[in-house]
Amino acid sequence: MGSSGDQRTRRRDYGAATLNRADLATDPLTQFAAWLDEANAAGAVDATAMALATTGAGPMPSVRIVLLKHFDADGLCWYTDYRSLKGAELAENPFASALFYWREQDRQVRVSGAVQRLSAAESAAYFESRPAESRYAAAASVQSAPVANREALEQAIRALRQAHTPDAPPCPSEWGGYRLRPVEYEFWQGRAGRLHDRFRYRRGDAGAWDIARLQP
Ligand SMILES: Cc1cc2nc3c(=O)[nH]c(=O)nc-3n(C[C@H](O)[C@H](O)[C@H](O)COP(=O)(O)O)c2cc1C
Repeated sequence: MGSSGDQRTRRRDYGAATLNRADLATDPLTQFAAWLDEANAAGAVDATAMALATTGAGPMPSVRIVLLKHFDADGLCWYTDYRSLKGAELAENPFASALFYWREQDRQVRVSGAVQRLSAAESAAYFESRPAESRYAAAASVQSAPVANREALEQAIRALRQAHTPDAPPCPSEWGGYRLRPVEYEFWQGRAGRLHDRFRYRRGDAGAWDIARLQP
């Protein structure tokens, strides 16, 4: 096995499942929902965690984990602080790519598309469903801005608690959800000997999804 700086000898084979063209749902959302359910059923920790890649006006992409909170035919939704790096980048370039990795099944799913904000009402509804602790933390933090030390954050929370006792604060105007409307999906199933199964769905002009098998 590799040791810290050199991981070249660390490898494992993938053989949890197979993916055939005949198994694929016509609608990639149906396929996605089935795989997410299987990941959850297999006991995946944070099956809804997705790496979200964005770029702004500059050349450097950025990526971070966010949690998928709900999805339907209109897209995949998550919640965050609009003042964060991702928020700034999405304001400059409203396209993103999200990646789920489900280790138990040796699977990954990539989803790309245009991103838009959820309505303030939708964001507030979700914010108010969160535990009080999370609401205080979200309201006290300007996500991704530098802060002098942890004490400054704790002080901001104490001030909020005094201002809002007994109720947790309302949804800040700069906190809320985004929806990614997929134009492309890729389903990747790890296979033995690195001959993996990959299928890409692309939305055609008529709105139907074209499916192509990709080389591993
Ligand atoms: C498991 C996990 C779940 C996370 N979920 C969220 C989330 O739902 N929303 C969010 O804004 N940040 C979430 N984060 C924190 C982000 O990864 C990131 O640090 C933060 O959003 C700031 O990113 P940015 O500076 O690129 O905008 C999560 C991190 C981890 C590891």
